[in-house]
Amino acid sequence: MNISSSFRFCRFTFRKCLSRRLQWDTCDRYYCSKSSSTDQTRVVQLKNKLACGPSFQDFIKSSDKTYDACNDEHEEYHIPECTTARSLKVYFETYGCQMNISDTEIAWSILQKAGYSRTHELPEADVVLLVTCSIREKAEQTIWNRLKHLTALKKRCQKHKPLLKIGVLGCMAERLKTKLLEQEKLVDVLAGPDAYRDLPRLLSLGYRGQRASNVLLSLEETYADVMPVHQTPEGHSAFVSIMRGCDNMCSYCIVPFTRGRERSRPLSSILEEVRMLSDQGVKEVTLLGQNVNSYRDFSEQHFICSEGSTQLSRGFKTVYRTKQGGLLFSDLLDKVSQIDPDMRIRFTSPHPKDFPDEVLQLIQERRNICKQIHLPAQSGSSRVLHAMRRGYTREAYLDLVENIREIIPGVNLSSDFITGFCGETEEDHQETLSLVREVGYNVGFLFAYSMRKKTHAYHRLQDDVPAPVKQRRLEELISVFREEAAKVNMALIGSTQLVLVEGESKRSSEELCGRNDGNVKVVFPKTDLPIQPEKPQMVPITSGDYVLVKFPCRLM
Ligand code: 5AD
Ligand code: SF4
Repeated sequence: MNISSSFRFCRFTFRKCLSRRLQWDTCDRYYCSKSSSTDQTRVVQLKNKLACGPSFQDFIKSSDKTYDACNDEHEEYHIPECTTARSLKVYFETYGCQMNISDTEIAWSILQKAGYSRTHELPEADVVLLVTCSIREKAEQTIWNRLKHLTALKKRCQKHKPLLKIGVLGCMAERLKTKLLEQEKLVDVLAGPDAYRDLPRLLSLGYRGQRASNVLLSLEETYADVMPVHQTPEGHSAFVSIMRGCDNMCSYCIVPFTRGRERSRPLSSILEEVRMLSDQGVKEVTLLGQNVNSYRDFSEQHFICSEGSTQLSRGFKTVYRTKQGGLLFSDLLDKVSQIDPDMRIRFTSPHPKDFPDEVLQLIQERRNICKQIHLPAQSGSSRVLHAMRRGYTREAYLDLVENIREIIPGVNLSSDFITGFCGETEEDHQETLSLVREVGYNVGFLFAYSMRKKTHAYHRLQDDVPAPVKQRRLEELISVFREEAAKVNMALIGSTQLVLVEGESKRSSEELCGRNDGNVKVVFPKTDLPIQPEKPQMVPITSGDYVLVKFPCRLM
């Protein structure tokens, strides 16, 4: 390794000649609570109280009774006398997409306010909450298995943990309410994505031995006033939820049914949160939503009256009627990116239909909006896209890619694809492979189609591609993706990239890792750098630093 000159400039640290690795993700993502310090005194106090207090049976009135939120407006919150919410510890496990990480932060913020404390160690937990995903069968199966394991654990520890509660939050709670609560009897508490405010009450009902649920979907809930407690590993990057739900009704997708209608969080509350994060030293914010670039804020009178009708990408259409007025995604992006010019802004997950030129130009103009766009294509065949109800053809998608590249030269593109959707032929599949070759993405999230009840495809289409064929097509797609991504990343060789350091690399304590603007993972050796150009004093690189990394002349 040859570091010929390295120096610090403004708040960025510059250095030379380092290596890089690519990020791949072709399966369901799983995030688990991270460990933190424990409060031993409180554990001992709780144990003592539990030992001398009433037994579990004392709290059970009717163990099999199911409570529905709407039937129970006047129930008082109830936590056993010997226990206060303050002494109860919640353990979260988060599955699925970034929205679920954000939901975990919201749910935790609500419970923290109600007096609960948090543990990152399962054996310490009084309440175990799984924040769940329903998007594919495999994601749900993982959670079923986990629930069975946790229920067995609960039975085994009934003596020393008589109050242990298990809850399911999020999409699976919404989709499988009856099955989870009544049929399988695996959980005590269920809260859908719009019912997290109700969690303290639901848990109180749980302590009365009742199975409690609230899976009501809302047209308005954005948790605007709930300041999430951010839990990123090193504290330098954070997710900020800006909208919830989805109106697109892609024919394969369960999300509109589990997360409900699209609604946007008021601009003022988003800006407040981003300002707060900037003050805390956060260096990267990812704006989140199911269709993040369809953001449309009606929270103020003058937003409602504004002229803006839906500005779609050229050649794209929606399944819903054109929306009018409101403050749009380009306005939000403009304001968020001005808060802190040293804070990187990303956003996910967008829909390709919502990329008018205003948004693209803003991304190009603003130094701190990352030049990386996720552009979920789903298929390269216009016939399949039509069956998927995506609202665009292959040609319109490719025109959009061309337009994006014209306005933002050097932009990195990533995408989602589904193989083996209803009626997909070999020819359709080949069109998908050719689209991937033509566009040249650097990151892909690739999935075999998994039929979901309630969706249009479930009711109207035949899931007629056999599982082994879906799998074979998926493998072919992965290998084409890898080839193309390698080409895109080879083009970085010799270039110098600004990398936001995340921390130690997983493989070696001698290495650090971070991401460049295009979201490529970069791994490089740990080293000290001069505190300022020409100054002899050296400091170690730490997470949250920006460093300039020159990629090696050969791939490692
Ligand atoms: N089967 C397989 N993949 C799906 N996705 C959404 N629904 C399904 C399904 N039923 C994929 C899409 C979407 C990503 C989040 O998950 O590619 O963009
Ligand atoms: Fe699902 Fe389509 Fe909405 Fe994405 S845009 S969440 S794929 S319905």
